[in-house]
Amino acid sequence: MLFTTTSALAAAIFAGFVSAQTPAGFTPAVEAKLEVIYGTKATIELGTRFTKAETARQPTIGTSDVALNGTYVWLLIDLDVPSNFQNPSSGPRRTNLHALITGFKSSGQTVSVAGVTNPVYTLTSSSTGPITYVGPSPPAENPPYAHKYVSLLYETPAGFTVTRQQVGQTFGFNLTTFVDAVGLKDAPVRASYLSVAA
Ligand SMILES: *[C@@H]1O[C@H](CO)[C@@H](O)[C@H](O)[C@H]1NC(C)=O
Ligand SMILES: *[C@@H]1O[C@H](CO)[C@@H](O)[C@H](O)[C@H]1NC(C)=O
Repeated sequence: MLFTTTSALAAAIFAGFVSAQTPAGFTPAVEAKLEVIYGTKATIELGTRFTKAETARQPTIGTSDVALNGTYVWLLIDLDVPSNFQNPSSGPRRTNLHALITGFKSSGQTVSVAGVTNPVYTLTSSSTGPITYVGPSPPAENPPYAHKYVSLLYETPAGFTVTRQQVGQTFGFNLTTFVDAVGLKDAPVRASYLSVAA
């Protein structure tokens, strides 16, 4: 039977599924939205489509519901890198880490952006690493294939640092290994994703 749970639980599960900001099947699933803004364009719906040109420079990140008051690390991960560039549909798709930047805190400022109801409380960091932002550049495929780029925001404890070595490889980046290595025990506080095709 499909509905062996109580209807309330089923509804809660369904609501959780619908409101996840991370792509279907991605672990961990995160429900609270991180606003990601490139110029004057934000991630509105799940997987909002952007061009390579639009995403060339590091976006502004923030929240539109409540200002965050901690310190955070932001990651941007491509989930759809072909294992075999000659024949992308032949194998599994892998990850590529496009940014891993520590030290994000509230800027104390907001920006208004089309499509987002409330002003966005922005987060800024004086750091650019340990992995400096690299814009999406998915290869052309036939048929065209839009890569999903997931943003994750983790709260970090006082004195948190990450060495380049702890990040591991960027191509095939393993999130589980990374969070274990640096001791990020709690789930991401915010997430969203966007998509870019060649
Ligand atoms: C930060 O925000 C959380 C959640 O809104 C709140 O519980 C906490 O008291 C705040 N901390 C400070 C230092 O303002
Ligand atoms: C990431 O690393 C964990 C622990 O080493 C491993 O179990 C998992 O399979 C790895 N994930 C990927 C996608 O390689």
